[in-house]
Amino acid sequence: MAKQAQATWGGRFSAGPAELMLRFSESVSFDRRLAPFDIQGSKAHSAMLAHVGLITKAERDAIHRGLDAVLAEIEAGSFKWQTRLEDVHMNIEQALTKRVPAAAKLHTARSRNDQVATDMRLYFKAACTDLIQRIDGAQRAILGVAERNADVLIPGYTHLQRAQPVFLAHHLFAYLEMLQRDAERFASVADHANWCPLGSGAIAGTTLPIDREFTAKALGFVDAKGRPQVTRNSMDAVSDRDLFIEFASACALTGVHFSRMAEDLILWASQEFKFVELPDAFCTGSSLMPQKKNPDSMELLRGKSARLQGNLHTLLVLAKGLPLTYNRDLQEDKPPVFDSHDQTALCLEVLAGTFAGLELHRGNCAAAVADPALLATDLADYLVRQGVAFRDAHHAVGAVVKLAEKKAVGLDCLTLADVKEVHPAFKADWVDSFNLPKAMARRTGTGMPGPAQVARQYQRWLKILG
Ligand code: ARG
Repeated sequence: MAKQAQATWGGRFSAGPAELMLRFSESVSFDRRLAPFDIQGSKAHSAMLAHVGLITKAERDAIHRGLDAVLAEIEAGSFKWQTRLEDVHMNIEQALTKRVPAAAKLHTARSRNDQVATDMRLYFKAACTDLIQRIDGAQRAILGVAERNADVLIPGYTHLQRAQPVFLAHHLFAYLEMLQRDAERFASVADHANWCPLGSGAIAGTTLPIDREFTAKALGFVDAKGRPQVTRNSMDAVSDRDLFIEFASACALTGVHFSRMAEDLILWASQEFKFVELPDAFCTGSSLMPQKKNPDSMELLRGKSARLQGNLHTLLVLAKGLPLTYNRDLQEDKPPVFDSHDQTALCLEVLAGTFAGLELHRGNCAAAVADPALLATDLADYLVRQGVAFRDAHHAVGAVVKLAEKKAVGLDCLTLADVKEVHPAFKADWVDSFNLPKAMARRTGTGMPGPAQVARQYQRWLKILG
């Protein structure tokens, strides 16, 4: 069963791993997506080796040419990935060695442990940039809905009960805030990723005279002033998986936001609300009930948020209890990260697509927001303006609500005599409290849903999203 000893580490072995062990331990099926970063890292590392004189410039150039050729093959899809060679690093190194004899020197002062840590840091920087761009795309689509429906008012809900009126735009801008924090989290993950582990070796660095700062600079691991940033502890550098967890956590939290937005849209698209019409392109029908139009894209967003949380949990459990430093368990760190990245990216596209095609049922929104009960708090504020203490005002308006229910009329259809009986502070203008445009205009503070504030926030988002 045993195969020939593995070329890169087989020196001390008389027999290679069993077929089953190869299948069990390979990671190339998923870590091959690190190839561009692995090659970038190898180019920087070999440039550094030449810089300090551990290889010649001619050897460096040959290695660089070889790496370019390998990358071209990978990009063209003609590269032969071999499970037998375990992972992306050894596949590339062996392919390179076949082309370039000097490649035998490439792994000088390097281990796969600091190599994979570097690849992943480069990957995280790119992945965060990618997701930040996609968040931006989703935000623009949401801003578009707000723009097209700037005058639409809807009830805002607490406990899923009608609470107070808001501009639809105000509700949508809440989504923009959530997504903006998500983008900031990804920016912070990218920032944390910006430290170069190369030179940490397998665990304890190297005895060879390398120049870590050179490599860091070559790979763009630099601060705002262009100064190289290298990790400060070789043991931490090869065993730290905080970034994986932070990235998955940022994805999971973004997923929670997906789920909450999706739930709003599912409710709004239901016959019971019917505030919005989801685009056909992001809905599906029923194989049995001909009338159905199901909000599947939104349900999947809600569902995928569970998966994103699962990935985070996988990583937390994976890292917990591991002794320093590298342990092979850590190879399992990549599938959840890649899955979180891919699913978050996909969700953001679907979110953008759904919002881009969202139509409002303006009549239903107007009917719902015309409910005078939404302005019961405004009525209490009216009494406060008449000098009544808020607690008393609240109590009085509660009694007014009760009376209206008893008489089976709208809150605004009671007579002045009715309400005066509840509280003498009610004057003839009490019923003005139910004038919706006037009521909205009273909400003037920052962060409130008054028309001037919403317009201001719209301008702010226009500026942020460009
Ligand atoms: N494929 C491995 C991983 O992702 C690379 C590091 C291997 N290191 C080792 N000591 N076996 O974890």
